[in-house]
Amino acid sequence: MSHDRPHLVRTPEEVRTVLDAHRRAGRTIGFVPTMGALHEGHLSLVRAAAAADDVVVVSIFVNPLQFGEGEDLDAYPRTLDADLDLLAPEGVALVFSPAPSTFTPETRRTTVHVEGLTGGLEAATRPTHFDGVTTIVTKLFNVVGADHAYFGEKDFQQQAILRRMALDLDMRTEVVTCPIVREADGLALSSRNVYLSGEQRRDALALSQALRELADGWEGNVDSGRSTLLGRLTAAQGIQLDYAEIIDPETLEPLEGVRSGDCQAVVAAWVGTTRLIDTMRLRV
Ligand code: PAF
Repeated sequence: MSHDRPHLVRTPEEVRTVLDAHRRAGRTIGFVPTMGALHEGHLSLVRAAAAADDVVVVSIFVNPLQFGEGEDLDAYPRTLDADLDLLAPEGVALVFSPAPSTFTPETRRTTVHVEGLTGGLEAATRPTHFDGVTTIVTKLFNVVGADHAYFGEKDFQQQAILRRMALDLDMRTEVVTCPIVREADGLALSSRNVYLSGEQRRDALALSQALRELADGWEGNVDSGRSTLLGRLTAAQGIQLDYAEIIDPETLEPLEGVRSGDCQAVVAAWVGTTRLIDTMRLRV
């Protein structure tokens, strides 16, 4: 069966006009913010929204504010036509894809900053990244006015920061975190996986394999867990490790000693010129 592509909208005013009618009719709105180059991971978020909310909205915007100097803003895959085709069978009411010149104009002077959670891990090498994310997500939340917004667990630090932001600023949108979607061999789905050669893709598996081994053997010893993880990933072929940490899932603080509660393992590494991240929950 063929499906119509979702309604594509370019301006905040058009989004409000369409969604105000749904709100007046008492329908809940589920929102999936993306940068496009959609894959099964994004579709799992769309399906979570469709299961819980009456109306599903997706945004597709490659956000220039979250790319640092020398990062892959220009090369980042932009595949709007294919994205709309992928969304066609998913019952999405609206796709919001604004133009960068009007959504993030040069005249912009406001930045949304979350304290504390934005200091380490990803931010250690990408110091402006999360201000770019929180600023754009605030704008998107303001435009869409959703009841729920769905984010993937793979960007673990991002979802923790956005949850804090929505709570601290009394936003009407509740942040919902959904599980990572993996390939059959364990590789976490990412729009950046398209950059990987066949050999790099095989090398990249070390990330999910090291996390899986850690989670399977987890007995709460953070110090030995971290050194095993570090040892495994620094020895892995074709991988240049950025960080491997075991953190508190709420505060994102690196942990030490022996813990009985939930911990989160987070890793980031370069595979060639592609930076990949992955994460796994550790439960005794
Ligand atoms: O996770 C992403 O794709 C982006 O960081 C987001 C949340 C869409 C903001 O640009």
